[in-house]
Amino acid sequence: MQVFKSAQELSIFYNSVSSVGKSLGFVATMGALHEGHLALAKQSQSENDFTIVSIFVNPTQFNNPEDLEKYPRKDEQDIAMLSAIQVDAVFLPSVEEMYGKEVSSESINLMGLDKGMEGDYRPGHFQGVATVVRRLLKMIKPTRAYFGEKDYQQLRIIRHVADIFKLDSEIIGVETQRYPSGLAMSSRNFRLSAQAIVEAKIIYQSMHWAKENYLKYRPEALKEAIITRFAQSSLVLEYVDFADDTNMQKITDWQEAKSVRIYIAALCEGVRLIDNLSIR
Ligand code: PAF
Repeated sequence: MQVFKSAQELSIFYNSVSSVGKSLGFVATMGALHEGHLALAKQSQSENDFTIVSIFVNPTQFNNPEDLEKYPRKDEQDIAMLSAIQVDAVFLPSVEEMYGKEVSSESINLMGLDKGMEGDYRPGHFQGVATVVRRLLKMIKPTRAYFGEKDYQQLRIIRHVADIFKLDSEIIGVETQRYPSGLAMSSRNFRLSAQAIVEAKIIYQSMHWAKENYLKYRPEALKEAIITRFAQSSLVLEYVDFADDTNMQKITDWQEAKSVRIYIAALCEGVRLIDNLSIR
């Protein structure tokens, strides 16, 4: 497995892949890899001739400096995990390689997809994600790029970015990987105690309950019930919302959208966890 740190090394790799007409799959990560990331890489391996994974903790997508500081960094362990599943290459750029001297987001027209849910709670977050993903896709030029549905709003925004900048990569959404309790796999779980991991299952349980019962209640009534459940738990609910899969607008009536997801963000032992589930 090759490890690249610069755009120049990447372009030599890209030329060697594309000159022989091979396809390249790409998985963007911020490291602290878990089975969810490996599932993305494995899907890429099964659908492409070569697979490259990037590890870059992108500073511009953290609206909270403390969150950036606390973000787990495990480069050595990550490289060993990727090598064990025989990924072809890893891109590990420095902040300077990605941003030069000016570490700031571009101003990309996200057409309101960044409003609501994460967009409301993390101002500037999606501009940071859009900026870095656009740069990574331009540098790596993959045939296909894989992103997890756990960050569904992010996935929707990345599809939009690929579209408006006419990037030549197919964006593929991959189903959220979950533990048997339903808890979504996330690098943030590394910061939870064993007890918190058990308690955090209320997130999936609530979403699943909403999916099972949505025909009986209006969205507002389901939200109220979930707010009550969380009030009786050790987690602090930040939001629960229902939104249209296409335009990401919140809905108040099921008839307002063809495909709807429920979104939850909650603090568990001070660690912010997010998840979503397709309702219909
Ligand atoms: O989902 C993530 O890990 C990040 O937001 C991404 C897509 C790698 C961009 O930094």
